[in-house]
Amino acid sequence: MKLRTYQNQSISPIISRVFFGRSFIIIPLVLLIFNMNTIAQDVKIVRKLNQLEEHKIDSIISIMTLDEKIAMLHGKGLFTSEGIPRLGIKELHYTDGPFGIREELNDSWASLRLTTDSATFLPTGSALAATWDPDMAYEYGKVLGEEAKSRGKDILLGPAVNITRSPLNGRTYEYMSEDPLLNSKLAVKYINGVQDCGVAACVKHFAANNQETDRGSVNVTMDERTLREIYLPAFRAAVDEANVYTVMAAYNKFGGDYCAENDYLLNNILKEEWNFKGLVMSDWGATHSTVASALNGLDVEMGSSPNNTYFAKALLDSVKIARVRESVINDKVRRILRVMFFVQKKGVAPTDDLVSTPAHGKAAWQIASESIVLLKNSNNLLPLKIAGIKKIVVIGDNATHKHAREGFGAGVKTRYEITPLEGLKSKVGKKTAIQFVQGYKPKYLTTSERGSGRQPDNQPDPVLLKEAVDAAGSCDVAIVFVGTNRGYETEGTDRLDLKLPFGQDELISAVTKANPNTVIVVISGAPVDLNNSVKSASAMIWSGFNGSESGNALADVLLGNINPSGKLPLTFPVSLSNSPVESLKAIPGESTVNYSEGLLVGYRWFDTKKVEPLFCFGHGLSYTTFVYSGIKSDKKKYSKKDKIKISLKVKNTGATTGLETVQIYISALGQKIFKPTKELKAFKKVLVNSESETEVKMEINVSDLAYFNEKLMKWVVAPGNYKIIAGSSSKDLRISTAISVE
Ligand code: BGC
Repeated sequence: MKLRTYQNQSISPIISRVFFGRSFIIIPLVLLIFNMNTIAQDVKIVRKLNQLEEHKIDSIISIMTLDEKIAMLHGKGLFTSEGIPRLGIKELHYTDGPFGIREELNDSWASLRLTTDSATFLPTGSALAATWDPDMAYEYGKVLGEEAKSRGKDILLGPAVNITRSPLNGRTYEYMSEDPLLNSKLAVKYINGVQDCGVAACVKHFAANNQETDRGSVNVTMDERTLREIYLPAFRAAVDEANVYTVMAAYNKFGGDYCAENDYLLNNILKEEWNFKGLVMSDWGATHSTVASALNGLDVEMGSSPNNTYFAKALLDSVKIARVRESVINDKVRRILRVMFFVQKKGVAPTDDLVSTPAHGKAAWQIASESIVLLKNSNNLLPLKIAGIKKIVVIGDNATHKHAREGFGAGVKTRYEITPLEGLKSKVGKKTAIQFVQGYKPKYLTTSERGSGRQPDNQPDPVLLKEAVDAAGSCDVAIVFVGTNRGYETEGTDRLDLKLPFGQDELISAVTKANPNTVIVVISGAPVDLNNSVKSASAMIWSGFNGSESGNALADVLLGNINPSGKLPLTFPVSLSNSPVESLKAIPGESTVNYSEGLLVGYRWFDTKKVEPLFCFGHGLSYTTFVYSGIKSDKKKYSKKDKIKISLKVKNTGATTGLETVQIYISALGQKIFKPTKELKAFKKVLVNSESETEVKMEINVSDLAYFNEKLMKWVVAPGNYKIIAGSSSKDLRISTAISVE
């Protein structure tokens, strides 16, 4: 947050009055001037209100004892921090986040087994990102915000915006994408949705927490430009554009210091440079010191054990012996009080009514259905022509596996989760028979069998394999649900490789051989090795861990009730050795990991190094076809303060209405400064009716073409020529135009 609490609420109606009201068309300058005066007056009122609130906070602090102040700076139990009842300061209640409100736990992480704490399970981060739709992110945030408020929560621990640097990262399912712009745009709307309900969002994990291996000790280093251009933009957008109220400091070290005691990240960048006025909490158990953390920007210590709390007695003692000034403590309390005032004055009152409502289920379905990616459809097997299909065989554990809770880390005690088999059964109709066979089972090696990490048993089960092959041979269409699950992709551990675990490749080969009409549905939160599926199957779909309505959304896409519109937010490499992190051997777990690939993360690497991915960033097909034409920019030459207004036409040339995400990449032409071959700078998802054409307009600030100049320590727009490219994916580039910046 940046002390814009009132500003946000009162300015937007004024701005819309000025710019969008009917008056704007007819009213002469006089009224515009009048309106400008009104804005100026409102800005004054806003400032006054903010000042009043700050005065109120100051006066509360002035009558607090030091003990009371210190009591507010550390967790009281796992998900609460202390209030001061005599002053009307309430406890703050925190909740995970990021994809559903967590059930109530006791202080040792065990469930309280209540009957009132079920929630909506929303598609996890990479699935949300596959929608490429900020409106969906807003709906997502709103579901979370309403459910959090109803459950009496003040702070929602999400969104999680760390960049997917390595496809093996165990939390890839929870994070969004490999691209800072996509992350930023979705994070801003997610936070708006949460905070519009009077719940403070928490953008996490700040910063460079990109692997789970040794996450509690690993020291991350990288050049400043990479930090600014790749790893920080979503955090900055959360502060600047979404006015986020809280930030969570990550487990790892950055530049030699733990993130929760990192002067550079917390004080210099977040609080000074970005002017963040909200509170910084530690990740759970990520605090390692008293004085250093207190001085270097941590405000609230969370998740430490009661006997090992740095911000309790030890902090009190440090103030008493003047190692930490009381003004530093006051600043922390002030930040907490800002959050408290915000959550108290805004939003619905706690009630059970808003938890997991039908409307929330509908939002979960809509987000899920917009996120499903059609990877391949070479024989137009999809959508299934159900009228001519007598029998479908559904194969594979992921047809019935539930993904709301499993593994380590935050899960959701969901009120319900529709599996793909259930979705198909309820939507296919009585004329088509559905048979389910297990195909494979998730099995792990025993401790004595495995070397290190959680390793899958990749041997196919011969009995299940034969059953699947026999069933596939006797039906019209086979649908194989493969992928991973949340026990396999999990917080705390990175995967060891990209392979489809549990012998699924053998299953895919055998089933596709038995029946060429086989659809492969991959359910995973992260990229997996799909070489074998691409070779064997003509139709393939990817779905993330897609929430309470996952099975309904998948059935709708398979049956053509929904035209798929998801686009991959992550590159699926041909092999791990092709991906930047692996080929540079920068992981796993050395005590220091230097991000030597620099800016070349995700598609930036594949493009610039000319490495062919299996499925590229931004890829996703539709049941219809879109033709792009007529790309134009409003000018040819721009100055650094301009906006580039881009327009182009998209025609739906097929028989089905569909959503298309137009992706705008920019290439710097012939410049001295190194840049990735191209970078995503704008995108827009548009609905185009069959046989219709629509005009798509987007704007890019020239300042968004800037690179971070490490010598000057500022953003610089390099003058020169730039190519603006519109694509349906990062490799399916359709049309382009050139501009120059003076
Ligand atoms: C995770 C956070 C989470 C916290 C509380 C930590 O292990 O890294 O993302 O919010 O636990 O559950």
